[in-house]
Amino acid sequence: MTADAGTQLTNPVAEGEAEIAFEGALRPRTLREFVGQEKVRGQLQLLLTAATMQQRTPDHILLAGPPGLGKTTLAMIIAQEGDRPLRMSSGPAIQHAGDLAAVLSSLVPGEVLFIDEIHRMARSAEEMLYLAMEDFRIDIMVGKGAGATSVPLDLAPFTLVGATTRSGLLPNPLRDRFGFTAHLEFYAEHELEQVLGRAAALLDLPIDKAALAEIAGRCRGTPRIANRLLRRVRDYALVHGRDADLEAVHAALDLYDVDGIGLDRLDREVMRTVLTRFGGGPVGLNTLAVSVGEESETVESVVEPFLVRIGFLTRTPRGRVATPEAWRHFGLSHPQAGLTLDVL
Ligand SMILES: Nc1ncnc2c1ncn2[C@@H]1O[C@H](COP(=O)(O)OP(=O)(O)OP(=O)(O)O)[C@@H](O)[C@H]1O
Ligand SMILES: [Mg+2]
Repeated sequence: MTADAGTQLTNPVAEGEAEIAFEGALRPRTLREFVGQEKVRGQLQLLLTAATMQQRTPDHILLAGPPGLGKTTLAMIIAQEGDRPLRMSSGPAIQHAGDLAAVLSSLVPGEVLFIDEIHRMARSAEEMLYLAMEDFRIDIMVGKGAGATSVPLDLAPFTLVGATTRSGLLPNPLRDRFGFTAHLEFYAEHELEQVLGRAAALLDLPIDKAALAEIAGRCRGTPRIANRLLRRVRDYALVHGRDADLEAVHAALDLYDVDGIGLDRLDREVMRTVLTRFGGGPVGLNTLAVSVGEESETVESVVEPFLVRIGFLTRTPRGRVATPEAWRHFGLSHPQAGLTLDVL
């Protein structure tokens, strides 16, 4: 990865074993503890309670949304709330129908099967999953070539919980077999303050409200980033033998180049390049990436989504274009100020 520390801090994708272990310790264990996502929480609660009342396995559930918003956490809660065993797998681990058959045939009644990144599962496995989801049954091929026969196998009733950051990539027949799809949204600042307050308590870190609010404003609406920034603030307070107050947040996050609205060094460099070297654009992705010395892939998947979301950058057929909002934020004036911006 060519990205520096600043970029990793604000990249919503989980980084390595250490972070995964750290996150594990901070995961809410019940729906009640799960902050925000009011709507989804209510929907899940209803679905789980009804299933318990009817003594059946809950419908299959699809959790869709960007990285770091709580999909894995919710999958674990779904199992926990119903007091059901949980089996975890992921799309990339299921590269053949046989991989899936092995998992499905070993499920116990009522088990929750979590398939993370379900859009990356092999096609052949996907087809096996249709039947499994619908009828709790699969057909296993025995033998090879002309003598091959398919043997039906009954499965224990289970609940599939699929997670995807790219629900658009799911084939319709698969999407249609989920009884419920939860769309996770980015979190509001007051919700992130709650996420942070809870995490600080679990970490035994005394921190004041102003400090929490400041971190909440810089974490791009994403609990994973919030927890990560909190960890850097905790380090800073520890090393400098001081309280985790507003000043410590400023100092720690300045050190890591995360600015007041959550932009990091690379985000700012990309914006400055569009604004000053290309007069606000349009500029093509590849040209832009070369200008900031990054892979186009990094610019497109790591940098751009947030800049687009906060309305600093728009994608047009002719290339990336900075918005008036961006010109203002960077304290620059548009070279054609006074002329209409509509021509962009
Ligand atoms: N609603 C929430 N309340 C409190 N903490 C949360 C919430 N949602 C997420 N978190 C925290 O954020 C971290 C990341 O969440 P999680 O791993 O569930 O994200 P994800 O959606 O599965 O991400 P990915 O797409 O990368 O798999 C977890 O450590 C969890 O503690
Ligand atoms: Mg996850």
